[in-house]
Amino acid sequence: MENKKENIEENDNNKKSNINQEEEAQNLKIDNRKNDFAEIISLEPSSKYDITFKAIIIGNCGVGKTCITNMAIKQKFDELHRSTIGLEYWTMFIKINYKIIKLQIWDTCGQEIYRSLISNYYKNASLAIIVYAVNNRESFQDIDFWLKELKTMSSPDIKLILLGNKIDLINERVIDYKEGEEIAKYYGFHYFLETSAKTGENIKDIFIKAVKLLYEDYLKYKKMYSEKNPKNPNLNTFLEINRKKKEQNKCC
Ligand code: GTP
Repeated sequence: MENKKENIEENDNNKKSNINQEEEAQNLKIDNRKNDFAEIISLEPSSKYDITFKAIIIGNCGVGKTCITNMAIKQKFDELHRSTIGLEYWTMFIKINYKIIKLQIWDTCGQEIYRSLISNYYKNASLAIIVYAVNNRESFQDIDFWLKELKTMSSPDIKLILLGNKIDLINERVIDYKEGEEIAKYYGFHYFLETSAKTGENIKDIFIKAVKLLYEDYLKYKKMYSEKNPKNPNLNTFLEINRKKKEQNKCC
């Protein structure tokens, strides 16, 4: 009698596991559709979403980091320079096909006194956006400095975007598009864009491209993991283990 009960329970568990696997396979099939439709949407921060990614935006003081984020989220531009105190936190929702992605953005201050505080946030970020201003050569030369700062704490998998901001200041430009593009290639940035937080040029594009990149990476890991361990597709655990392994292998 006891054996029969155990067999029935085991059969039920097997059926549940098969259903989970079918659901997971179905999800992957849907997920693998071309992610060509994406838009920034308005949602309350407490609303439901599918995945969260963390991003950090860094660069010299006054290059326009806060204005870029402000323009993308609120479509507002502030002529005044109010230096960010340490860090500011923003939330953006982006819909890719039927998935809603929450992007947490840490907007940092370029001032030196906050550097050690900011570097603590590098390690949790999946994406770093480095900004220079096209009318400021020093901010362009400091790309190298910001990359070195990032390397001290960030994950080796971090995605990188380079922005040349303030392109509306046509007469003040000292760095042309080609120079920006070349340095982005040289350092292995995933994307390079020139932007204007004042006119809004390319501003939404930054975040849409970034989230598509992160989502595609996420799907790759998800597929890899469910192929390795189809009975227990716990992606978060897998990603965490993978991250730790990479950290251990990282050379000092
Ligand atoms: P910190 O927080 O001090 O590191 O500065 P930030 O990089 O966040 O710069 P912020 O966004 O505060 O902008 C600095 C100044 O540049 C402000 O006066 C903005 O109005 C101006 N600014 C930012 N983006 C643009 C742009 O695309 N075009 C023009 N013309 N001005 C811009």
